[in-house]
Amino acid sequence: MNFQLSEEHKMIRDAAREFAQELKPGVIERDEAARFPTDFVKKMGELGFMGIMVPQQYGGAGMDTMAYVLALEEIAKIDASAAVIMSAHNSLVLYGLNEFGTDQQKQKYLTRLASGEDLGAFALSEPEAGSDATSQHTKAEDKGDYYLLNGTKNWITNGGPADIYIVIAQTDPDKGHRGINALIVEKDTPGFTIGPKENKLGIRSSDTHSLMFSDVKIPKENRIGDDGFGFKFAMKTLDGGRIGIAAQALGIAAGAYDLALAYSKERKTFGKSISNHQAIQFKLADMEVDIEAARLLTYKAAWTKDQGLPYGKMAAMAKLNTSEVAMKHTIEAIQIHGGYGYVKEYHVERLMRDAKITQIYEGTSEIQRLVIAREILKKQKKV
Ligand code: CAA
Repeated sequence: MNFQLSEEHKMIRDAAREFAQELKPGVIERDEAARFPTDFVKKMGELGFMGIMVPQQYGGAGMDTMAYVLALEEIAKIDASAAVIMSAHNSLVLYGLNEFGTDQQKQKYLTRLASGEDLGAFALSEPEAGSDATSQHTKAEDKGDYYLLNGTKNWITNGGPADIYIVIAQTDPDKGHRGINALIVEKDTPGFTIGPKENKLGIRSSDTHSLMFSDVKIPKENRIGDDGFGFKFAMKTLDGGRIGIAAQALGIAAGAYDLALAYSKERKTFGKSISNHQAIQFKLADMEVDIEAARLLTYKAAWTKDQGLPYGKMAAMAKLNTSEVAMKHTIEAIQIHGGYGYVKEYHVERLMRDAKITQIYEGTSEIQRLVIAREILKKQKKV
């Protein structure tokens, strides 16, 4: 067992750390204005972050999940919105296209997405289908050489600025989850409209919309995988997506901790830095322990995936744990800052708002527990 990062991994982490410094000056303003960081997303494309795990033959950086996690963690420390833009694009769109798309689909869509020229969005959630992902109301009626898409999707990350959408829809309700398909939908397809932007609590400079489909014709060649593969496609995609969210939550927790630690050394009360008070030391020690444990789980989930081993349970464990650590310790980071933590200039209140979504998207904490418990029970041995 080797806990040391390779030289390549250190390089990508350092590159992401350096880039994250560029995100810093405008992060409060972008959060307040809920402004999408268009120029920075372009820069992330130039740096290879928008196709980090895609093979070089399709325009990506050809790196592994570990590299992806390291880059996301660094970006999320400073700007969790930028991290989720990168994460939804890579985990939920590029991964599935690369893994299950045809060569033609990869040539047409993946190369532009992996270079960052195009942005991707993944549309699974619906007004009545969040955790219960099988209950899709969006219909993709089989019309011979095309599907006729009708319905509404909700809470779609990158929903407004995306160019390419992977849409999950029901083709044959009698077949339940085996009647669901995943379709590649281009932004300008007639009948496809984008709803108003959501006004969110956190990750405000990432862009979240509902999507409406009204008699949208999607050619059959845009279906990913065999007929009826859509639900399994979505589940496999979310397994990897949860590692991305774990990395995002880890970055949020670590970012808040860095700020709290620095502040505790500067701020003086009763004649000494507050870091010299035991009450603060206990908090800092708990943060260090919990964040390091969350980091180990996240890295192990990434490593497991990179080894080609089953990783669904590890991904859910990492996502569950890091999101709870992020929530708990962003609140503690505010506490350490006292009144200053409650105002925007000190960043920690934003990180706390950003942390909350990591317990909700790509399956709530309750869903992660369900995924973990199912795996444990499947493998239960006789004692
Ligand atoms: N990999 C492959 N196949 C899987 C799978 C996985 N991880 N999980 C389930 N399946 C398969 C099962 O084997 C089963 O197939 P068979 O019938 O052939 O055996 C089939 O899928 C149905 O499985 P279940 O009966 O277990 O399905 P279920 O409906 O009970 O649900 C669930 C399982 C874990 C609750 C799942 O629905 C789930 O993960 N829900 C959460 C969805 C979610 O995360 N939504 C948010 C979406 S996107 C988002 O948040 C993005 C963003 O903005 C950043």
